Amino acid sequence: MSENRPSAVWPSQGASAPMGGSAAHKVASVGALLSLEGVHTHIGAYHILHGVDLVVPKGQLTMLLGRNGAGKTTTLRTIMGLWRAGPGRIRFAGRDITALDTPRIAALKIAYVPETMGIFSDLTVKENMLLAARDAARASQMDESRLKWIFSLFPAVEKFWNHPAGKLSGGQKQMLAVARAIVEPRELLIVDEPSKGLAPAIVNNMIDAFAQLKASGVTILLVEQNINFAKRLGDTVAVMSNGRVVHAGSMAALAADEELQRSLLGLAL
Ligand SMILES: Nc1ncnc2c1ncn2[C@@H]1O[C@H](COP(=O)(O)OP(=O)(O)O)[C@@H](O)[C@H]1O
Ligand SMILES: [Mg+2]
Repeated sequence: MSENRPSAVWPSQGASAPMGGSAAHKVASVGALLSLEGVHTHIGAYHILHGVDLVVPKGQLTMLLGRNGAGKTTTLRTIMGLWRAGPGRIRFAGRDITALDTPRIAALKIAYVPETMGIFSDLTVKENMLLAARDAARASQMDESRLKWIFSLFPAVEKFWNHPAGKLSGGQKQMLAVARAIVEPRELLIVDEPSKGLAPAIVNNMIDAFAQLKASGVTILLVEQNINFAKRLGDTVAVMSNGRVVHAGSMAALAADEELQRSLLGLAL
């Protein structure tokens, strides 16, 4: 178990210890690409996040788990500046990004794939990719070697290149959404529930693609409801409940502890 723990990131915490605010503050500067400290988010009159502490270690794949309504999507949107954190602090690559607007956050090479995926159904797969590549007006201007690499990760993107994106299956759309997000080099890839509603064979493809993405050096933060998907991919895990992170540690430790999974995640999984 200990060899699977990112010990540089979680130096003093028991793998199954509940997450305390001070622990997050202590580890935030060690190996973290992204960190949230005491983040509160209000949506209109509703107080949704109640002091989220979260560390995403550089080069790792972090799983953000939790029941429906726990605040996972709100956390991702707050990281991206789509909701304002107040109070709280968000740091990326040593820089305070709490007050930056969304285009500036994206310009730091952070890509976000929302649950709704943001695909244009009437446009072809190629046109969807072109729109995501800010510097390319034509397919011939896209970075060819990068495109080849994306095709190797997601063969459906190549296969249906000239087809309307609306005709793709749910899994193919999800792959296109991730392919769009990585059309330019990224430091951090954030994806909300990539396995939702997908058949097991497609989920396996998705797991392979994320594993290869991670191997390429991209840090990844995934929201998941599917514990098996999370177990197979995650290095680090954070579990949310009622607008807070209530557990953080290694995925291996949580995967090995069914009692803890039940108490944290309940029957929703
Ligand atoms: N736009 C919104 N307006 C009001 N409440 C919202 C809005 N978005 C989310 N919420 C509420 O915030 C809580 C957390 O939602 P969300 O972050 O979507 O949870 P999760 O992604 O973990 O399922 C839920 O109670 C949800 O109803
Ligand atoms: Mg959600």
